[in-house]
Amino acid sequence: MILVTGGAGFIGGNFVLDWLATSDEPVLNLDKLTYAGNLQTLAALEHDARHVFVRGDIGDTTLVPALLARHRPRAVINFAAESHVDRSIHGPSEFIQTNIVGTFNLLESVRGYWSALPESERISFRFLHVSTDEVYGSLAPDDSPFRETNPHAPNSPYSASKAASDHLVRAWHHTYGLPVLTTNCSNNYGPYHFPEKLIPLVILNALAGKPLPVYGDGQQVRDWLYVKDHCAAIRCVLEAGQSGQTYNVGGWNEKPNLEVVHTICRILDELRPRADSQSYASQITFVADRPGHDRRYAIDASRLADELGWKPAETFDSGIRKTVAWYLDNDAWISNVTSGSYRDWIARQYEG
Ligand code: NAD
Ligand code: TYD
Repeated sequence: MILVTGGAGFIGGNFVLDWLATSDEPVLNLDKLTYAGNLQTLAALEHDARHVFVRGDIGDTTLVPALLARHRPRAVINFAAESHVDRSIHGPSEFIQTNIVGTFNLLESVRGYWSALPESERISFRFLHVSTDEVYGSLAPDDSPFRETNPHAPNSPYSASKAASDHLVRAWHHTYGLPVLTTNCSNNYGPYHFPEKLIPLVILNALAGKPLPVYGDGQQVRDWLYVKDHCAAIRCVLEAGQSGQTYNVGGWNEKPNLEVVHTICRILDELRPRADSQSYASQITFVADRPGHDRRYAIDASRLADELGWKPAETFDSGIRKTVAWYLDNDAWISNVTSGSYRDWIARQYEG
């Protein structure tokens, strides 16, 4: 079996669902269920014996070794993290705790387990660390996209904490020989995306008749990747990636934020026109910029294409259409995540 951490979050949840749709290898899913974790994402697996869910912290140095000893996974895929830049600006402490200290503790638990494995299992074992393109910092308009050789130059508490975790993973390979793989991925979007992030927030605010908040001038560029393409890339790196190597994952889809918001409005105008027949674009509102806002991210994913043959299946046009349609069809999931603490966050970030 494999151990997935953070498998009740956006990408981890999609990964677990896709994994069990394409393989019978069981998944042990360790997730703390923070505000971002949602078991409803995994509702289809409720009676599926191939999915074992454990609520817990990657930094728990009693629980994690016990789980490893009991379930004997052949690989660990570490999605668990605090992942939202704006939250990291309001309160960086949890980011340091989970992304740095938690990853350190997880690495130590895994190293203890791995080093006691029989040789053949030790050789084939993998620790795959899921990271972000944000560790590379911000690009100028004419800079080449990030390659794996770019130096880390993180600018936000979130990206600094992820960069630190990447360094720990690298060091555990070089010093202790732990067979690690690191993936640095661009912005994901798709089903089960918590609506604090740009794309789901815009879809849900549009439908609720609320303002669509665009930070600053809306010309910041992100490289968007459909989440299921990211999941396929991780499966590919897990099976064929070279131990100790880093792989950039991206969609070759650079878009300014304002264009993304207009695209969502256009699709909604078509699929769910407003009662007054005005465009949802009339709800666009420019708001104060994010402090230290990175201007541009872009990924050069050619190593993954050249060495492992991975390419994204979705274009931005096809992926965003599927995503908007998913949000229109999944009221129950949405009303579950938009209650309680989510409302407090929106009030603090956009109204306070
Ligand atoms: P998410 O915030 O939706 O989910 C994170 C999950 O981790 C949640 O289920 C949460 O409960 C769990 N978690 C948090 N702290 C934990 C802890 N201490 N122990 C166990 N579980 C814990 O995040 P996501 O968007 O799914 O991102 C997953 C990973 O991918 C993260 O490492 C993130 O840095 C990385 N990443 C995300 C993106 C993106 O666009 N979302 C892009 C590139 C990389
Ligand atoms: P986000 O989804 O938070 O991802 P990240 O900060 O990790 O790239 O934001 C994507 C882009 O959208 C980023 O440039 C910030 C911008 N943004 C807005 O303009 N308005 C919003 O309300 C949010 C949440 C983000």
